[in-house]
Amino acid sequence: MSVLAAETRPKDASTSRVLDVQGLDVRLGRFHLLHDVTFSIDRGERVGLIGESGSGKSLTSLALLGLLPDDAHVSGSIRLAGVGHDLVGARERDLAAIRGRDVAMVFQEPMTALNPTMRVGDQVAEVITIHAGRGGRDKRAARARAVELLDQVGLPDPGDAARAYPHQLSGGQRQRVVVAIALANDPSLLVCDEPTTALDVTVQARVLDLIVRGVSARDAALLFITHDLSVVATVCERVLVMYGGRVVEAGPVTEVFRRPRHRYTQGLLAASDLDSAAAGGRLPTIRGTVPSAGTFPDGCVFRSRCDHATEVCATEPAWAGPDPGNGFACHHPAGAERAS
Ligand SMILES: Nc1ncnc2c1ncn2[C@@H]1O[C@H](COP(=O)(O)OP(=O)(O)OP(=O)(O)O)[C@@H](O)[C@H]1O
Ligand SMILES: [Mg+2]
Repeated sequence: MSVLAAETRPKDASTSRVLDVQGLDVRLGRFHLLHDVTFSIDRGERVGLIGESGSGKSLTSLALLGLLPDDAHVSGSIRLAGVGHDLVGARERDLAAIRGRDVAMVFQEPMTALNPTMRVGDQVAEVITIHAGRGGRDKRAARARAVELLDQVGLPDPGDAARAYPHQLSGGQRQRVVVAIALANDPSLLVCDEPTTALDVTVQARVLDLIVRGVSARDAALLFITHDLSVVATVCERVLVMYGGRVVEAGPVTEVFRRPRHRYTQGLLAASDLDSAAAGGRLPTIRGTVPSAGTFPDGCVFRSRCDHATEVCATEPAWAGPDPGNGFACHHPAGAERAS
């Protein structure tokens, strides 16, 4: 390794860190869409990313794959284990080499991720050969590996499935194929954006199980985006809560869900069906709607919808917590009454 490459490695070169995002800022046109997004994920760790529609979850995930629109202005840094350079500002050629090899993604709709005119086995084999480089696997070996992977993701008759076209499979089977493609090169990071939302409930649970087993077997890191908080509670150990393009709270799932500090997290949990059985009636909702891009208030972005907001909330709340992975940014956190 050259000295230069060594110098461009993250300073925190702890061997277990897979992803390190620092001060990620994204602007598109006149909209400032992500603000100072900072978090990290270690090997084998499963992190949930939650927040209402328009919070910036998908933009964050697209940034990790270098898939933001060409005209986006991006600053901050995104470091991935095994990649000697920052993903922010990287050339498309380098990002293409990283995608599918070091970081892979499973989107909501499997049909859009698959090529409708290509047999699914060939699609799995292709992602293997693309990244194998010169002298890598030959086509026959890649095809055999593809069938093995289709077997691993639980497709019955994987040999037959490999010869099928996407439209010949069910939605759940297609998403299994997408998971097989995502895991084909043993990525260090898997990003899932609502991977089971389009599936039947019974199929959902099986695909979730598949994802968890797939990343665990590889000791990979998982970033899991969903609106379903019960899924976060099942799948993830840590959670990041986003609102208005910012991470407003972060911590272990058990702590954040049991004792949310940010008033936004508190509202989100109250509005989720985690508590619905206990509530026994209509779910409370967070009043108002998420402002559209560019119309969030200054200071605390949540103050236009928060029942606890006072004048001080016109100023930006500082992060309260030992590190970016643990804490919240709220002037009037829940639970503070008890402490005083
Ligand atoms: N290409 C774009 N140009 C302008 N604004 C965009 C663009 N893509 C996203 N946005 C805006 O950025 C904000 C965050 O979008 P994002 O897709 O990240 O939300 P999300 O949290 O994934 O929501 P959902 O839960 O609905 O998927 C939204 O206000 C959205 O309108
Ligand atoms: Mg989204």
